[in-house]
Order: sequence, then structure tokens, then C-alpha cells
Amino acid sequence: MPSTVLVGAQWGDEGKGKITDLIASKYDYVVRYQGGNNAGHTVVHGDKKLALHLMPSGVMYENAIPVIGNGVVVDPGVLVKEMAMLQAEGISCKNLKISCDAHVIMPWHKDLDGADEKSLGEHKIGTTKRGIGPCYQDKAARKGIRIQDLFDEKIFRLKVETALKQKNPVLSKIYGLHTYTVEEICEEYLPYARILKPYMAETAHMLNSALREGKSVLFEGAQGTLLDIDHGTYPYVTSSSCCAGGAATGSGVGPVNIDRVLGIEKAYVTRVGGGPFPTEQRFPEDGGVGEEAETGELLCSVGHEFGVTTGRKRRCGWFDAVIARYAAEVNGLTDVALTKLDVLSAFDTIKVCVAYECNGKRYDYFPMQQSVLFHAKPIYEELPGWKGEDITACKSFEELPENAQKYVEHLEEITGVKISIVAVGPDRDQTIMRGW
Ligand code: IMP
Repeated sequence: MPSTVLVGAQWGDEGKGKITDLIASKYDYVVRYQGGNNAGHTVVHGDKKLALHLMPSGVMYENAIPVIGNGVVVDPGVLVKEMAMLQAEGISCKNLKISCDAHVIMPWHKDLDGADEKSLGEHKIGTTKRGIGPCYQDKAARKGIRIQDLFDEKIFRLKVETALKQKNPVLSKIYGLHTYTVEEICEEYLPYARILKPYMAETAHMLNSALREGKSVLFEGAQGTLLDIDHGTYPYVTSSSCCAGGAATGSGVGPVNIDRVLGIEKAYVTRVGGGPFPTEQRFPEDGGVGEEAETGELLCSVGHEFGVTTGRKRRCGWFDAVIARYAAEVNGLTDVALTKLDVLSAFDTIKVCVAYECNGKRYDYFPMQQSVLFHAKPIYEELPGWKGEDITACKSFEELPENAQKYVEHLEEITGVKISIVAVGPDRDQTIMRGW
């Protein structure tokens, strides 16, 4: 069984949770390698739906070891609550392994995330306000607090004291917010240390040893390619390496040990937060009118496009092959899982963006300059739909209506990657395997 990176190929929310849920049970380890509780995916447990934000979805399978890698930023309060929620549902967290090198989200990170956004006004990023950016900022500035620091009270106090010397004046003098004392931080965080200590592990060594023994590893990406700090639509991105390369740095496993990279793509595109989105079909409240607004509303309502973490309405648009080709390159995609194909059953005809046009120039590839992307006009192909045909019970590719098959094959052709999985509904069995 090879090791696989599962990565969002758009702006997040591509349905990674469902595909992870589908394949995770076959792996020995399931590893989160970046991001934090800004992620959110729903897993099905019996007749209940549970929302996971930080816990690797491997926790749902007795045989899989869930791992929080060094590249993740951990809000210990959230993790402890998530563990309690899972345990109350009868799901054991006993196999969880957490890297001692993962950074800790502190209360001031969350305050600063909110305050920064407020100060940006209309240019705000639209963050989840979970403290992700400010925590990675401190990590890069070499001022962060790591999980291992929680276990030595003397060191933890010293680090908090040092941090507060800088953070308190910023909180109070720049943003007019409340300040913290070392004592109150210790009171909140040291009990977390006692709960989390049994789960600490040398995760990089553990994973490398496992790979040497022929075990399989699934690297579970959060967010998506266009939210990647390097390859995304900067500055409208998250602060971590969501792309497949991040799996190596965020876990301590060398890239040669990664065999397959599975990109998750929705059959259309969604985005939350600000930033450019060429194929967006704006909602009326965002200035969309006529067919554009109708398409946006239909994609949102039929696709239930509301954030798991924030509850926000997601911006919606047609499939963008320029983005898909870019994601194929920067992640080295070997396969694609196409999700929510059933949502397109609501349309007479379906548009696919094959290139952009900006200032008289055609772009078949992802433009280097953000300003081009902001003003890019999509060049669409229009494909016949399969409106009214319910595809949610289709079990094989051949059972799909001819136009749905042609749509999938066309996407393969224009994006250059094999679509090995097609999802036609939210449940695990509403999935067509095509060689995965
Ligand atoms: P942050 O990760 O909270 O700093 O937010 C930065 C950007 O990433 C914002 O546009 C968020 O809406 C977006 N973002 C963060 N996490 C997710 C996710 O899981 N799905 C989709 N967008 C996300």
C-alpha cells in the first residue's frame, strides 16, 4: 500500500472529508501536516454527523493511527474538547500521536487575528479568526511556543513571560484590547499539558520507521492549493503550506516516500473569504444580477455551500480548468477525485472555464501576477447538461448519463489528470471508483 497525499486542488471545501473518509481506513497512519482548527470536515458516525476541526480523520478507524504532525498549529483547548466530544460518542482517541514540535495557538493569537482583520477594513482576508496566521507568524519569527514547552512549567512560564512583553503592548496600545498575565495563561494551559502528554510522540521518526516496515501513510491536507502560503492567491491565503510539498515538511517524511498525490476537485468551484475568483457567479448581495446571480444561488443551495467552521455562505462559480492545471503542476497530482457531480444535475448547460482573457491577452496557465487574476475574464466552453436525471444512485461510470460521462472525460482531457474517483452524493457509497 503506497503513501498518499490527499490535497485540496481549489480553495478548500472540495469535499476532502468525504474522500478521506472513503480511503482512510485502508491506511495504517493518517497524518495532518499543516493548518489547525481553521479546517472543518464532517464525518459520518452511525446515524450522526460529527464535525472534526483538528483531529485527523484516522481517529474514526480503529486500525489507523491519527497523527498531528509538526507542521500543524494546535489550539490545545480545541483539541481537548474535540477529544472529549469523540470519546462521548464512543470513539477512542487512544492511538492519537502529536508532534512535540507543533506550535501552540495562544489566546493573543486569536485576539490579534480578529484585530488585524478589523484594521484591514474592506481589504480583509476573511480569516476564520482562529489565530492561525498570528501563530505561524510567531513560528517564522522564532518566537513561537511549541507543544513540548507546555511540559516544563519553568520553560513555559519563561516563554509566556517573554511573549507577553511584546504582545501586551500591541494588544493594549495598538488595538485597545485586554492584556494577559503569565498566571492566567498558566492556569488555562498547564491543565491541557497534563491531558495531552500521553499522546506526545517522535512523530517524524515514528512515520519513517513505519514506512521502512512497509506500512502505509495517508497525509491529509487541509484547506487547498489556492490557499497555500506560497502557491495560493496571496495575500488571500492561509498561513501554511497546504500543497503536497507541505506533507514532507509538515511531517518529517522525505518526498521520495510519497507515491501518489490525490487532488480533490469539486465539479464546480467555491471559495470563502476575500480574494480573486475568476469564475465566481456573484450572489445578488455581492452585485450579481440575472443568470449570474441565479447560477450562484443555485450552486449554493443545491450544493449546501455553507462553511463547517464558520457557517458562512461560500462564494460559488463554474469549474476552472486553469486552476486545475495549476494544481496538477504545483502538487504533482497523480489522480483526481471529482466531488459533487450530482449538484450539476440542476443545470441545462454547464460552463467550464478553459482559459482567461486579460488586457487582450489569453492565459491558458495560471497568471503570475495577482492583478491579472483579479481582472481575468473567464473564457468558457458550454457543455450539455443532464438536467433532471438523478445520478445519486449511480454505482458505476457507465450508469451515469452520457452527458455526465462526457463532462468527466472532458475535464480529464483539459486538465491532464486522471479522474479516479467521482462522487455523486454525500454518503460513502455514493462514490464511483475508476481505478483508485
Ligand atoms: P485563516 O486560515 O483562518 O487564516 O484564513 C485565511 C483564508 O483561508 C480565509 O480566506 C479563510 O476563509 C480560508 N480558509 C481557512 N481554512 C479554510 C477551510 O478549511 N476551507 C476553506 N477556506 C479556508
